[in-house]
Amino acid sequence: MTRDEARAKIIFALDVNEFSDVEKWADLLSPHVGMFKVGKQLYTACGPAVVRMIQKYGGEVFLDLKYHDIPNTVAMASLEAARMGVKLFNLHALGGYEMMAKTVETLDKEFKGEERGKVLAVTILTSSNEQTLQEVGINLPVPEMVVKLASLAKKAGIDGVVASPQEVPLIREACGNDFLIVTPGVRPAFAAADDQKRIMTPAEAVKSGADYLVIGRPIAAAPNPAEAAQAIVAEIVAG
Ligand code: C5P
Repeated sequence: MTRDEARAKIIFALDVNEFSDVEKWADLLSPHVGMFKVGKQLYTACGPAVVRMIQKYGGEVFLDLKYHDIPNTVAMASLEAARMGVKLFNLHALGGYEMMAKTVETLDKEFKGEERGKVLAVTILTSSNEQTLQEVGINLPVPEMVVKLASLAKKAGIDGVVASPQEVPLIREACGNDFLIVTPGVRPAFAAADDQKRIMTPAEAVKSGADYLVIGRPIAAAPNPAEAAQAIVAEIVAG
């Protein structure tokens, strides 16, 4: 794999809430990562202007808002996300088949085969365990639910999923090679685990079949963040 291919796989998690921080990170890291993840905190604080700011620096955006609502509402929100020109955005597969299929149909109608942002589904959050699922009346084991929801998303025309590195092989097997898999919980050999429990190195995650890696603190908290990003690229290339 080339350095450019490896760099394109890295999504930097912008876990901040101020415009000035976003500008700093977009300026510093645009040459070193493939994408910037804008989540609920940052988007609630700063809105769509933050997406335009990143794009101004030449950065691509993963809009991580995890939509979950009635089919029409999610389809319309997704349309606005795609119109902003974000490269990736997402919804909860637990919203159901109709919600996902209506979203894909709405996007296809607008973009008519033209390049558009890819929609990902979140299956079961990695913060959930068997007990969390039982509390809401789901009695299947987590890995079974993950595969069930990923397969349902694929059937609805969704482009891929967000999943923990451990789930990648199962999802690859069930959903095939052209289904995108984005994984957080990745820790380069040089970094601390922080609060992440089931971690893999970037090279391992890519080897096991992940298309994109969401990485925050190993870059943000490094003494030299640009160098840390470059070291991660090197780890992936070497792996
Ligand atoms: O700093 P760190 O690399 O742990 O950041 C990972 C990012 O991925 C954070 O924005 C976190 O919210 C997100 N994430 C995660 N685990 C999930 C889903 C999202 O760490 N299962």
